[in-house]
Amino acid sequence: MKEIILEKFAEIFGESEGVGVYFAPGRVNLIGEHTDYNGGHVFPCALTIGTYGAARKRNDNKLRFYSMNFPGRGVIESSLEDLKPYKEAYWTNYPKGVMWAFEQRGMKIPCGMDLLLNGTIPNGSGLSSSASVEVLTGYILRDFFGFDVTNQDLALIGQYSENNFNGVNCGIMDQFAIAMGKENHAIFLDTADLSYEYAPIQLENAKIVIASSNKKRGLGDSKYNERRSECETALAELQKVVSIQSLGDLTEETFEEYKAAIESDVRRKRAKHAVYENQRTIQAVKALQRNDVALFGQLMNASHVSLRDDYEVTGIELDTLVEEAWKIPGVIGSRMTGAGFGGCTVSIVKDDAIDHFIDAVGKAYEKKIGYGADFYVVEIGDGPRAI
Ligand code: GLA
Repeated sequence: MKEIILEKFAEIFGESEGVGVYFAPGRVNLIGEHTDYNGGHVFPCALTIGTYGAARKRNDNKLRFYSMNFPGRGVIESSLEDLKPYKEAYWTNYPKGVMWAFEQRGMKIPCGMDLLLNGTIPNGSGLSSSASVEVLTGYILRDFFGFDVTNQDLALIGQYSENNFNGVNCGIMDQFAIAMGKENHAIFLDTADLSYEYAPIQLENAKIVIASSNKKRGLGDSKYNERRSECETALAELQKVVSIQSLGDLTEETFEEYKAAIESDVRRKRAKHAVYENQRTIQAVKALQRNDVALFGQLMNASHVSLRDDYEVTGIELDTLVEEAWKIPGVIGSRMTGAGFGGCTVSIVKDDAIDHFIDAVGKAYEKKIGYGADFYVVEIGDGPRAI
C-alpha cells in the first residue's frame, strides 16, 4: 500500500521526496449505540481497514488535497487563511476542520501541506471513514509540527471539528475508538468521564462480519441531530423529578420509576433506549469477561430491537440484514451499528457458517431491497500510526 500511495503522490503532486505515510483505522461498535451523547457506555473497536494518507509540508500556506477514492474530483485546493467549510470542498472539509480545531486550541499551523488519501473503508458504510480522516489529519499535524497532544486529545479535536466545523453533533465514540484502537481488543468506554478499559476479544471459532447495506447515508442530513435533541429534552424533563447529569445515570428501574415525567411518548421511547442500551452494554462486557459469548450475542440482538422499535433509526435495509442474519444457525448475534438510517450491521458468526451467512443474507437482501449488500470479515486492529 505504501508504494502505491507514494507513486500516486508523485504523479499528483510531483516527486515523493520528504513525504510521510500514515494510517488511521475505521471502527465498528459492538454494542452501546446512541449512548455516547447520553453519558452512557460504548464498546467499539478499531479495524484493520482504514485511511492511508501521504503528506508533505509546503513552503507556503496552500493546502492541496487529493483522494484516490474520488479521482474524478481531482486536486482540491484551499489555504490556511481560508479554513472554512464549503459544500464544494467535499471530503476536504474533514481535514480542514481538524486544522481549524488545532488553531482554535491555540496550535497555529506554521505551513500548508499536500495531502493524498486512500481509504479502504467502504465509503458511507457507517464504519467512520470521516472520523478516520479526522484522526489521521490530527496525527499528521502532531507528527509534522510537534504539537503536544495525546491520542485522546486527537479524538477530542476530531469530535470538536465534526461538531463545530462540519455541523454534525456526534458523540466521542468514533474518534475515540480510532485514536485509541488496540489490536484484538474492544474499548469499554464510559462517555460520562472518558474512563476506559481494553477488553480482549477472543472469539473461539467465530468472526466479526460486517454487512454494508449500500444505502447511502449522510449523517448531516439524517435524523441524528434530531435524536440527540429528543434525548436532551427528555433529560431536562427527568431532571425536574430526579437529580441526574445524563440519561446514563439511570438504571432500568430508576427510569421506570421516573419516566412519567417525560411528556411525550416518542421522547419516552428515545430515553428508554438510551437507558436500557447503556445497561445492556455494561452487561454485555461482563458477559464477555465470563466468556459467555452466547449472552453477548443475545444482548446484541436486543440492542437491535431497541434501535428498531424505540429509537427508530434502522429502516428496512438494516432490519432486513439483521432479521435474515438471525435466521442463520451459527449467528451468535447481529445488530445495526453506528448511527443507523443506512450504513451497516455487525454480526458475530461461527467460522463454519460464514459462507452460508454471506450467501443467504445477501440473496434475501437483494430480493427484498432490489440491490446487493457487501460483506466484510473484519479484524480488530491498532490505532493511528506512521507506516
Ligand atoms: C455515529 C456518531 C457516534 C455515535 C453513533 C451512534 O457514529 O458519530 O458519536 O453517536 O453514531 O452510536
